[in-house]
Amino acid sequence: CKTNTLYLDMQVRCKTNTLYLDIHLTVMVVPGRQDKEEKIYYPPEDLQMNAHVPNFNSYLALYKRSIEEPEEFWRDAAQEFYWKESPSGQILQFNFDVTKGNISMKFMAGAKTNMCYNVLDRNVLDRNLGEKVAYLWEGNLPAHHQTITYGQLLKQVCRCANALKQTGVKKGDRVAIYLPMIPELVVTMLACARIGAVHSAVVRLIIWPCYSQFAGFSSESLAERIVDAQCSVLVTADGVYRGEKLINLKQISDEALEHCQEKGSPTVQKCVVVKHHALRASGTDECNKLQVGLNIMSTLKIYNLYKNVVILTPWNAERDVWWQDIVDSESEQCDPEWLDAEDPLFILYTSGSTGKPKGVLHTVAGYLLYTSLTFKYVFDHHHDDVYWCTADIGWITGHSYIAYGPLANGATSVLFEGVPVYPHVGRYWEVIEKYGVSKFYTAPTAIRLLMKYGREPVEKYDLSSLRVLGTVGEPINPEAWLWYHDAVGQGRCPVVDTFWQTETGGHVLTPLPAATPLKPGSATLPFFGVQPCILNEHGEELQGEAEGYLVFRKPWPGIMRGIYGNQERFESTYFRKFPGFYVTGDGCRRDKDGYYWITGRMDDMLNVSGHLLSTAEVEGALSEHAAVAEVAVVGRPHPLKGECLYCFVTLKDSHEFTHDLVEELKGKVREKIGPIATPDFIQNAPGLPKTRSGKIMRRVLRQIARNEKDLGDLSTLADSKVVDVLFSYRCKTA
Ligand code: PRX
Repeated sequence: CKTNTLYLDMQVRCKTNTLYLDIHLTVMVVPGRQDKEEKIYYPPEDLQMNAHVPNFNSYLALYKRSIEEPEEFWRDAAQEFYWKESPSGQILQFNFDVTKGNISMKFMAGAKTNMCYNVLDRNVLDRNLGEKVAYLWEGNLPAHHQTITYGQLLKQVCRCANALKQTGVKKGDRVAIYLPMIPELVVTMLACARIGAVHSAVVRLIIWPCYSQFAGFSSESLAERIVDAQCSVLVTADGVYRGEKLINLKQISDEALEHCQEKGSPTVQKCVVVKHHALRASGTDECNKLQVGLNIMSTLKIYNLYKNVVILTPWNAERDVWWQDIVDSESEQCDPEWLDAEDPLFILYTSGSTGKPKGVLHTVAGYLLYTSLTFKYVFDHHHDDVYWCTADIGWITGHSYIAYGPLANGATSVLFEGVPVYPHVGRYWEVIEKYGVSKFYTAPTAIRLLMKYGREPVEKYDLSSLRVLGTVGEPINPEAWLWYHDAVGQGRCPVVDTFWQTETGGHVLTPLPAATPLKPGSATLPFFGVQPCILNEHGEELQGEAEGYLVFRKPWPGIMRGIYGNQERFESTYFRKFPGFYVTGDGCRRDKDGYYWITGRMDDMLNVSGHLLSTAEVEGALSEHAAVAEVAVVGRPHPLKGECLYCFVTLKDSHEFTHDLVEELKGKVREKIGPIATPDFIQNAPGLPKTRSGKIMRRVLRQIARNEKDLGDLSTLADSKVVDVLFSYRCKTA
């Protein structure tokens, strides 16, 4: 790795009769130390000594095998797991080409297994990890914490699985989950996996926990997802504190279920409510007595008391049941349902450019294999590690790298309910010291937030346990990367910048900490089995240094299998633009060393604090306001969130653009989508820049939002005066 080395991999195919020779060259250049333009960070030697992939050559060799012998590669990886019926026959079957028929991908189809068995029973029974801590739960307040071993988790999951069966849940049924970061969230997911039910963690309850306030999705968004997946049960909690703010989850759930009724889709038969806020967070006898008292009065309302705050837990006696009442009394034994490798495991919603969220569907065995393998290699997991991913489990990062990936490896993880700045701005660092965290995974938006407070809060704590740092969700700017590396990692921990998507199931472009030389801001190179390509607008593959659309040529085990209930949308979103490839929607540059740099979305999606939002969805919400005639939403750079929403609103005649109206419009977006989508800027737009055929020129709007005066070619604009007017009305501050 110390010099510029050229690796050539040549494949020759010869057809003698036709005199036809086909040569493929794969060229990989290892970045060398002499590189003047950018500093390269090499893996620390002490990490390399004991690592699963200890150097760049090992990465190359494994990568090569995963591409050239995928059947053998994945069959070997699958051996670690328990199969009721082993994978036999062809491991991978797929069609990525819409012109040749339906898009499909299958790994190990026909094999039988169970996800829950593999991540719990296998650890407890076969690997003797029953006493090992699976989760270190850390509440909103430092005084609230709990440890859960693999043995305890298995028992609790069995109880929950039995309780779900009692409420009528069967294999294939969908269960909606709207829970905060508490053990019951993982328990419910695993209980579904055990009985073959499909979980749909509808809410990314609190997106990246950067802001003390609740920043999740609204009850309408929750309803939309419940209706789309036709869920029969909703599992929620009474309430939760995030920082200083109390969120009444049950009330939001009730509103969502009312919306489901209004939409003519009252599929939810039972609402299971975890008594979390009342019991775990406050834990006072007084509080319990109050509840009991009110129950006896047979009122439909139950109150929780915490810090003298009374919250109302509305109750529908026919539909609602307390988790504690139905789960605690169940048996600790529950036989797993043996599923086909390709049976569905979960649905997770992600924004779609049409405005309607897409229910991304993942299946059992491929997802197990891929999250397990990526977790092991990307975080170089070892048994004495304490791992912490700060994401919300309701996001794909939490599914793959708080729940399934770590559990499949028998890891010990921190499960954190709180926010990084409560009760003080050093909370993350305090938690790292408290538990001796060795692998830490967070988002650029969180790093940027914490950077604001300088090094002092970091230096107050002993972070010497840290070995590997990770980021995910959005491009990380080199300044934040360097601060993370130097201030948090004290210059000795590699930063793995992992690029992936809800759809990819796990990391697809990522460094391996002991193997890959790092360049701040680059997600570096592909994971095993992943074949990235860069295409131009015409679908032509670009070689060498290039910039264009990031696509993948072949599936890997963790890739989505479809959009729930909508094959047509699945194919048109990801496969129609460039037949033969999975299209990520992201732009990408490949540098001279073959490193990949994500340049941002190429579609109408925005990435706010690491979360994708659809401009069409926000436009839809704003258009519902009676005063709005037309609206266009674009992204504008934001120092903390990475990107924020900038909205151009044309009002109907007779309406005036006032401060109150702006607040109403923001409220409309909060109500329809949720606080995460609240626009930072709403600008009065007497007219929008359009082409002669009436298409809004978003490029021009983006430039106005950014105050870029040089607008380039405007010859296609129908009325160029609009631009000057828009500049004169530009919002300068949020
Ligand atoms: O635009 C890319 C960005 O996040 C998108 C995927 O969002 P989501 O499905 O919500 O999943 C996020 C967590 C995996 C991508 O299309 N993105 C994700 N990771 C990175 C990134 N952009 C740049 N660098 C990353 N490391």
